Amino acid sequence: MNGFKDIEHLFRFAGLFVIAILVFLVVRGFIVPKSFGEYGHYRAAAIPQIAALPLHYAGHQACISCHSDIQAVKSKGMHAGVNCEACHGALEKHVLDPINVVPVKLNTAVLCVRCHAASAAKPKSFPQVNAAEHANGIACETCHNPHSPAIDAGGTK
Ligand code: HEC
Ligand code: HEC
Ligand code: HEC
Ligand code: HEC
Repeated sequence: MNGFKDIEHLFRFAGLFVIAILVFLVVRGFIVPKSFGEYGHYRAAAIPQIAALPLHYAGHQACISCHSDIQAVKSKGMHAGVNCEACHGALEKHVLDPINVVPVKLNTAVLCVRCHAASAAKPKSFPQVNAAEHANGIACETCHNPHSPAIDAGGTK
């Protein structure tokens, strides 16, 4: 009999536990968004919200529909695999209104070294230069055509 003397403590503890679970379920019902879990472990209503955000990048296909002359040069050179907007930046606004939103002139002293600055971390096969020694302060596009940069392939300006 002695062993069960304090059994009401256990019931009180179990009761607290049940109340805590009920409070949790009620609070959860209020704070979890309605569309949560409709498709998976996320808020389904987030999809149309994200889809409605304004675009920034237009994509390569859009650029070459108007600038086919540039694509003709680029597709034959070493930059064939580098998309227009990787260098010119996000240009959806220019695509929507090409006359009034003209892309800014690029500064090749900053642009080209972003990919080509010599670094031991890059694969040896990737073309890279120490810009200070290689260009000696002369702008890269003086010698390289940005759209077809290899000089020995006749890409010189
Ligand atoms: C609907 C046609 C159209 C599309 C699409 C388009 N452009 Fe243009 N782009 C133009 C026109 C028109 C000009 C102005 C030409 C001019 O006055 O020399 C221009 C000018 C430019 C210039 C500046 C040229 C200069 O003289 O300084 C760049 C760079 C350029 N476009 C890049 C792009 C890129 C990159 C894309 C893709 C994101 C793109 N364009 C998509 C029509 C278009
Ligand atoms: C490797 C970087 C790079 C890529 C990739 C690139 N451009 Fe350029 N582009 C330049 C630079 C640098 C200039 C010269 C400076 C300027 O006008 O801003 C230039 C100039 C231009 C011009 C101005 C006039 C001319 O004929 O030189 C247009 C238009 C243009 N680019 C469109 C494009 C389009 C369209 C694509 C994709 C098919 C593209 N570019 C891809 C770097 C790039
Ligand atoms: C977004 C990255 C990127 C930018 C910016 C960029 N390049 Fe390139 N470049 C590449 C890639 C990728 C290749 C091709 C490498 C390969 O196929 O091994 C390449 C190839 C080259 C080559 C050919 C090297 C050879 O083996 O003959 C030259 C030269 C070159 N780029 C110069 C430039 C110049 C000049 C600029 C600035 C106008 C520039 N690049 C901007 C990525 C870039
Ligand atoms: C005075 C002319 C000149 C200038 C300016 C110049 N280059 Fe070059 N560059 C060359 C020549 C010549 C080659 C060797 C031929 C080739 O590989 O196409 C070369 C080769 C390269 C290569 C290929 C290296 C390799 O190992 O395959 C890259 C990348 C390059 N240049 C990037 C640049 C960058 C970035 C700038 C601007 C900071 C620049 N160049 C400025 C003349 C020049």
